[in-house]
Amino acid sequence: MRAVAFQNQKGGVGKSTLSLLVAEQLAQSGRKVIFLDNDPQGNSTQWFLNRLTDADYPLILEELQSKNLYNLLEEKIAPQNALLELPETTVKLLAATPNYEQAKTAFRDQPGHENLFRMLLLGLSTEALVCDTPGELSLLTNWSLSLCDVVVIPVQTEMFAVETLPIQLERIRTARKYLNPELKQIFLLPNLFDTRLKSCHYALDYLVDHYRDNLIFQEDQQPLWIPKRAEIMGFIDSHEPVRSNDMTSRLQVLVQALFPEF
Ligand SMILES: Nc1ncnc2c1ncn2[C@@H]1O[C@H](COP(=O)(O)OP(=O)(O)OP(=O)(O)O)[C@@H](O)[C@H]1O
Ligand SMILES: [Mg+2]
Repeated sequence: MRAVAFQNQKGGVGKSTLSLLVAEQLAQSGRKVIFLDNDPQGNSTQWFLNRLTDADYPLILEELQSKNLYNLLEEKIAPQNALLELPETTVKLLAATPNYEQAKTAFRDQPGHENLFRMLLLGLSTEALVCDTPGELSLLTNWSLSLCDVVVIPVQTEMFAVETLPIQLERIRTARKYLNPELKQIFLLPNLFDTRLKSCHYALDYLVDHYRDNLIFQEDQQPLWIPKRAEIMGFIDSHEPVRSNDMTSRLQVLVQALFPEF
């Protein structure tokens, strides 16, 4: 299994959006995927639930009462039984329910809690695990860092966002040192790029100059960035698949970089 976490302590940078896009892309190419919603806000969980038909909704909602991340951490359910299967997708969901917020305090004093995810999830039978994380720094962030092989930091392409990166990278490197030596790569993924704005180009150039090793490059040697596009909002709001050639090929490059063995 290869686990990829989308992480940034800044909110609204596209963690949920990009993690959902990657998970769906993997599922559509026939891969076995688990989506771990490690954010008590539960935006990604809600995205999956919003896709259900009126007929399926009550049934899945009832299953969610037992099949969720919090019950897994409390060991009320075994890992393989905690995965919520959904009719509209082959992605299996480890769902964040509203009580997941309590996990921050409930497990805080448990010895070795930093490795909770690692202990519980590494044995799951899947090819890919995609993890969404909250836009904050908390012990939840460390839980996904303890598990993942790759971290993707979606970065809004603007200087205020870029300036937070040294602290974020340092934190992830410390996690690699003390929590998870298996953490192989940290990628920066410029998002919400508006080609018309000089400020976006400036921030992208800065990223290339200062963080070249953390960027993903396309065949034409251009750094991979995700444009600000209505089709992405359509994917989130109305569950419309992303169709433009440009976006499809950017997602393919992203998936290839994150899962090179596929
Ligand atoms: N490339 C993009 N083009 C257009 N809209 C985008 C793009 N990426 C993200 N968005 C939109 O920006 C908003 C914030 O995205 P998202 O919820 O994925 O961010 P987040 O980092 O998960 O936020 P949080 O920290 O609150 O969890 C959403 O409405 C999403 O549809
Ligand atoms: Mg989110």
